[in-house]
Amino acid sequence: MSVQGSLVLGVETSCDDTAVALVDPRGAVIASCVASQAALHNDYGGVYPELASRAHIDKILPTVKAVLSDAGINPRDLAAIGVTRGPGLIGSLMVGLNTACGLGHGWEVPVIGVNHLRGHLRSADLEEARVTYPAIVLLVSGGHTLLARLQSATDIRLIGSTVDDSVGEAYDKVARMMGLGYPGGPIIDRLAVDGTPIVRFPRPMLRQGLDFSFSGLKSAVERYLVANPDVQPPDVAASFVEACLEVLISKCRAALAEYPSSCLVIVGGVAASPQLRAAAADLCEGLGVDLCLPPLKWSTDNGAMIGLATWDYLANQVITGTLEPVPGLGMEAF
Ligand code: KG4
Ligand code: ZN
Repeated sequence: MSVQGSLVLGVETSCDDTAVALVDPRGAVIASCVASQAALHNDYGGVYPELASRAHIDKILPTVKAVLSDAGINPRDLAAIGVTRGPGLIGSLMVGLNTACGLGHGWEVPVIGVNHLRGHLRSADLEEARVTYPAIVLLVSGGHTLLARLQSATDIRLIGSTVDDSVGEAYDKVARMMGLGYPGGPIIDRLAVDGTPIVRFPRPMLRQGLDFSFSGLKSAVERYLVANPDVQPPDVAASFVEACLEVLISKCRAALAEYPSSCLVIVGGVAASPQLRAAAADLCEGLGVDLCLPPLKWSTDNGAMIGLATWDYLANQVITGTLEPVPGLGMEAF
């Protein structure tokens, strides 16, 4: 099937943001809108799945409308609608998938189910092409922590992943136990700036290959807080961030040593961390490797990354009218 139209509508509802964007084949973002649910989940210290689904239902059509009217385009001219098919919260995913299927049917535009992680991987090429190959990618989000080797944008081999919690989950849970609100990542980062890393929390699996573990670190913080109720919160935050960074950076170093690459790519919500960005810049400068980071606004969940990933599916001529993942694109392991 030939590809009609020059823009893809990317739709992302896998978790707590209703996000839609229009993206061209080179990753230029023509329009984007994100309806955040952070305030809705703040009291729970994490995402409340049923509330998330209901908020997606309220927000999805207004968000699509806002993006289309910003760009002033006729939806019948779209090349496709790309929509996150997983992984994510099932109720939230269903809202995006059903809406995309309905709109695609009405507009006579193909609908393509896109893997959320593939979206994050492509976020580093939004607005401009940054990634050179071969590359190592560190994906650090609320749901995942993994390392992969990229031979191209669509040739992806998983080389390490967490055996329990993701690093973003650890940030969120530590913030919850400290009563700091949700999402925990940005709050902990800001607090850590004013603290001193006085506690040496464990660095789980530091020298054990390319896999990660964060649940023991989270429990160690919990035990420390119970035993030391008078500790200064910024010092706990600084100590926790130091432990996370040492693990993440040393795994990146090990991956680059095992798989020499021209570029280290860091994507996912935790890639918004200024501390992680600075530590990765130091690592890459020392190794003579390029560091490729998505612009801050495309690090956390957004529709643009799903739109750009959709172009990979279109380029591989895989418009089948189904919502199945595309075989042979190296995403099976994900
Ligand atoms: O990629 P993302 O938006 O959603 C998932 O796919 O999970 O990532 C969300 C995660 C949350 O755990 C959040 O606390 C974390 O990213 N995060 C951060 C920062 N901004 C968001 N973690 C550390 N520092 C930040 N500035
Ligand atoms: Zn995500």
